[in-house]
Amino acid sequence: MNVRITGTGSALPGKILTNAELERLVDTSDEWITTRTGIKERRIAIEGEYTSTFAAEAGRRAMAMAGVNPEEIDLIILGTVTPDFPFPSTACIVQDILGATNATAFDLSAACSGFLYGMSIAEKYICSGAARKVLVIGAEVLSRIVDWQDRNTCVLFGDGAGAVVLEGSEGGHSILSTHTFTNGAFWNLLYQPGCGSRNPATDSRTIDERLTFIKMEGNDVFKHAVRAMEEAALTALDTNGLLPSDISLLIPHQANRRIIDATAKRLGLGTDRVFTNLHRYGNTSSASIPISLDEAHRQGVLTSGDKLLLVAFGGGFTYASALVNW
Ligand code: ACO
Repeated sequence: MNVRITGTGSALPGKILTNAELERLVDTSDEWITTRTGIKERRIAIEGEYTSTFAAEAGRRAMAMAGVNPEEIDLIILGTVTPDFPFPSTACIVQDILGATNATAFDLSAACSGFLYGMSIAEKYICSGAARKVLVIGAEVLSRIVDWQDRNTCVLFGDGAGAVVLEGSEGGHSILSTHTFTNGAFWNLLYQPGCGSRNPATDSRTIDERLTFIKMEGNDVFKHAVRAMEEAALTALDTNGLLPSDISLLIPHQANRRIIDATAKRLGLGTDRVFTNLHRYGNTSSASIPISLDEAHRQGVLTSGDKLLLVAFGGGFTYASALVNW
């Protein structure tokens, strides 16, 4: 049984926050942000827009491309670290918005690797016969957990969602492999300390010590990210008996231009074979890879038979790869 991507979709907030606007919020500069990260602007949700808003729209667009009705979806997996609520899962809200009444739906917490973790689970559901059509979504409204007083982190992140429809098929383009990895030893290098059971949102200390916001040791995360993304990529290549030169397009998690460049360099891939859009969206965590895949697809960048290598790294640490024969 092959598992194919039959539709892609994405949805982004209309509101743009530029580096120049950030200069007025914190002690930073367009020059610093551009040279250290590659980011020029990011999208920010406005009042009345939530993670489910973008997740549902990205899912609707992916289903439209696939020609799949909501009732045909058996499973919705939503990767996110910024759900609408701690519970119920945002996937349940998306199921309701879309009218995907026959779908089992759940959220998946694997930070920036959430989408590829979701693809890996979806692939196994389909191969086992437990599901036929699966909607995998990565969606975030990170702007609501970003500390807008912390220049070390607030310049990096943005909001948005991307989605794919996966279906079983005897032929056509297919997912050749998925691999997921976890290294929990470094969970506290990138995390949101507050709003869980350790530092409840009801505790005034949580608010006073700004524990509801993302905390990150940027330098350490950077080094781990480059090593882990290389490992995930090489595992995918080895499993399929492929060389980096066989890869048509690398679609990496869009965290930082320098992480992407270092990963590509280690793999020996030129920039012409690396998809980036982080200059426009920043780091959208679990949404970054499906947004990129959808943009590459709709821009006509992908040709039948292309080998796509998707690679992610995120808090946890989690990391993952997928090799797709387009
Ligand atoms: N504007 C201006 N100066 C800044 C800013 C800013 N926005 N942020 C930090 N600085 C300053 C620091 O205070 C420091 O100043 P100091 O030398 O006086 O102390 C100086 O810039 C250098 O700081 P570094 O942290 O060493 O800068 P670095 O070159 O490492 O870049 C960055 C920081 C961009 C955060 C980098 O470490 C990085 O990208 N790390 C990975 C982060 C990441 O991608 N995380 C997400 C991956 S996983 C996921 O997506 C969830």
